[in-house]
Amino acid sequence: MSLTPRSFKLNTGASIPVIGFGAWAGRDPAIQAKATSWIFAAIQAGYRHLDTAWIYGTEKPVGDAIKASGVPREKLFVTTKLPWNHTKRVQWSIDQSLKNANLDYFDLYLMHWPHCVVHDEKEPRPRDPDGQLLLDDTGNFNETWAEMEKVLASGKVKAIGVSNFSIKTLEQLLTTASILPAANQVEMHPYLAQNDLLAFCRERGILVTAYAPTGYTVVREDTTIAEIAVKYGATPTQIILSWHVGRGTVVIPKSENIERQKENLGILVLQPEDTQRIDDLDRNQRVCNKPDEVGKVWGWTMDRLGW
Ligand SMILES: NC(=O)c1ccc[n+]([C@@H]2O[C@H](COP(=O)([O-])OP(=O)(O)OC[C@H]3O[C@@H](n4cnc5c(N)ncnc54)[C@H](OP(=O)(O)O)[C@@H]3O)[C@@H](O)[C@H]2O)c1
Repeated sequence: MSLTPRSFKLNTGASIPVIGFGAWAGRDPAIQAKATSWIFAAIQAGYRHLDTAWIYGTEKPVGDAIKASGVPREKLFVTTKLPWNHTKRVQWSIDQSLKNANLDYFDLYLMHWPHCVVHDEKEPRPRDPDGQLLLDDTGNFNETWAEMEKVLASGKVKAIGVSNFSIKTLEQLLTTASILPAANQVEMHPYLAQNDLLAFCRERGILVTAYAPTGYTVVREDTTIAEIAVKYGATPTQIILSWHVGRGTVVIPKSENIERQKENLGILVLQPEDTQRIDDLDRNQRVCNKPDEVGKVWGWTMDRLGW
């Protein structure tokens, strides 16, 4: 298998490995309890880019796995994310994240969502009586970004970026930002290609990272993907991940399984006609953060999100 580029450049000049390892451990305590071991296995398998978040509860397992691996810190790229319930206490939150991971710095610090949520240290997803996320609309992401710029200046993180931002919210962010986000991490896969957002980010030098990059079974079981996989003697997931990297996006697949971790590192270069067939599968379909029965994603309408 011929390899595509192993890393892309951020607008800071730093290199970011194109395949990262997603460290979301789900909500099953049994899987969370084993997180250090499957993250350690991923580093052993060759991953050098780890994607965690305060809200995943895996900053500590990531830090523990790094220590156990013996891989020098400077050989790794580690991303974490500011949770929505800490948007008014950013300086405090980054110190918590560094302490959780027992690291001196993160390579990339993302604002996890554009939302500002009421701070409740025991419950990062507090709800109103209707079951909607308890938003704190006295805060806004422009102010939060200004605080993240101070984190960058402190040296505790090497780059700052955003996640779940659209063209609409990015444009709003850029009206006050002194520093351009280095990255925007969004849901992206062949059924949600987000061509306009990708072009917008590319034109401005904002690297896009695809989360839920495999598209789950919905996309992994697509018949066109299956046909292309047969042609290359590869698996459907390898074809999907190769498509992403071919269009210049970083991917962060997650797997607890060592064989699938290794499989997901096996990307290849697709021929233009196969890339086109996958491009044609786009249908603006979300598989991860989907709107609920009242059309909101975590309390924000699709219009407010710009999705
Ligand atoms: N910024 C955000 O708001 C946000 C939101 C969601 C996710 N993320 C990040 O993105 C990462 C990846 O997203 P994700 O976990 O939602 O989606 P994903 O990586 O596309 O899919 C993970 C699921 O696919 C399975 N899987 C992985 N590789 C496979 C393969 N080769 N064959 C068959 N099944 C495979 C995994 O099961 P096994 O573990 O059993 O292999 C798991 O159930 C997360 O870990 C997190 O770091 C960020």
